Amino acid sequence: MKTTLISAVAIVCLFACTTKADEPQTQSSIFQHGVASGDPLNDRVIIWTKITPPDSVSSVEVDWEVATDSAFNGILKYGKYTTVGDRDFTVKIDVKGLNPGTKYHYRFRALGETSTHGQTKTASLYTDQLVFAVVSCSNYEWGYFNAYGRIADRQNIDAVIHLGDYIYEYGVGVYGDTTLGRLNDPPKEIITLDDYRTRYSLYRKDVDLQRVHAAHPFIVIWDDHEIANNSYKTGAQNHQDDEGSYEARKEAARKAYYEWMPIREGQKLYRKFSFGEMADVLMLDERLEGRSKQLDNMNDPEYESEARSMLGEEQFEWLTNNLKSSTAKWKIIGNQVIFSDLNRGLLFPNQPKNMDSWDGYPAEKRAIARQIVENDIKNVVWITGDTHASWVFDTRVAGVSDEPIAVEFGVTSVNSANYDERASIDTVRMAEQLYMKGNPHLKYNNLANHGYVLLSLKSDQAKAEYYFVETVKEPSDLENLSYEAYVKAGVSKVTPK
Ligand SMILES: [Fe+2]
Repeated sequence: MKTTLISAVAIVCLFACTTKADEPQTQSSIFQHGVASGDPLNDRVIIWTKITPPDSVSSVEVDWEVATDSAFNGILKYGKYTTVGDRDFTVKIDVKGLNPGTKYHYRFRALGETSTHGQTKTASLYTDQLVFAVVSCSNYEWGYFNAYGRIADRQNIDAVIHLGDYIYEYGVGVYGDTTLGRLNDPPKEIITLDDYRTRYSLYRKDVDLQRVHAAHPFIVIWDDHEIANNSYKTGAQNHQDDEGSYEARKEAARKAYYEWMPIREGQKLYRKFSFGEMADVLMLDERLEGRSKQLDNMNDPEYESEARSMLGEEQFEWLTNNLKSSTAKWKIIGNQVIFSDLNRGLLFPNQPKNMDSWDGYPAEKRAIARQIVENDIKNVVWITGDTHASWVFDTRVAGVSDEPIAVEFGVTSVNSANYDERASIDTVRMAEQLYMKGNPHLKYNNLANHGYVLLSLKSDQAKAEYYFVETVKEPSDLENLSYEAYVKAGVSKVTPK
């Protein structure tokens, strides 16, 4: 009976059921999780989908097509891919032989159904402007992904840069607002491969997340919650002995991530994207690659130890070598946790540094800063997630230089709780003032709003626009531009508008 139904749908649907790039895709029983693209290079891009086959099926042959137009009249590339249960029936194609800085349309067909169509773009080689939407921290239970929806609505985005916490690992109600009815699946903390896959499946059924993936290519890194809270190379705050081996959990989290995200396989998570003379984008892995365990406080005798690392030796060399050899105007560093010095002493006198951020790894932080100063590397821009708050720094690193050595734009959460979910707005405003007072190089902060940053790069100037959504408690398309920061090329200093 099921087969007959699928065949009937196939006859009606072939080509005709294709939808626009930004429409939700849950109408298909085979393509319940939409489409996605990512890791754009000058001549190639990853396209992705996931098949939900009938129970009895062990493998599925999938056709894919890439065209220059949304009507798919000019099909440029096509092929077949067989997906299996061992990869959760996900499909990932590295489409090669494309032109730089070019928009393409793509779609898939399997078991008689056609996916919606996605739109993507290769990395530009020659361009007078790049625009990235920068996001982090999306939590299904905390509310609606309106920020993703607003980015999906935008045209002329070169890529969405996701700085991690794309999913969260908790069980129902542990970290979220269950009154909204968006409940975690599975309902328990995710530990096994099956758990992680189920959690990605839940998130990818969200309409706004599907729309933003269908509209733009993503460049992603994980932070801690794709594995477990405050993870490091050999453990995590939220991994306990009775949850099994941490190595097995890391492996499960990593496998599900590579299955579900439009990321190129066979490489490290830390990787470089070149956008010609305008920008190099260096994405870091500050969790699993080489991070030493976080210390409890600065008084620990190990605090200043040069043996403690966020990146590990190999990634440190890769980062500093790429910064030194880059000929691009802007060096954008995709970074999970705040790099600039941040004194929290006026708010937390007993814990003036965040030990999970770069302030918890001072020797390695200074070593990177020294490389920037000694090699006179200009136009370094850190883009940072993790904090669920917005920050704009002239980046200072004590003990290296009294002058700013870079700038840093910290992006708020898509919807994960920020300070006003836990404190009154008066308290939040006071905290913002104390952060500003304790950090003269901090030019802006906001602890209360959700949204994203639009980072625009031209040869003479970078601009960061902080967009906040009106609410995450219900679907809404309202947003406002709350802050704009400019950086002139050659000057490691932010100028507010
Ligand atoms: Fe987060």
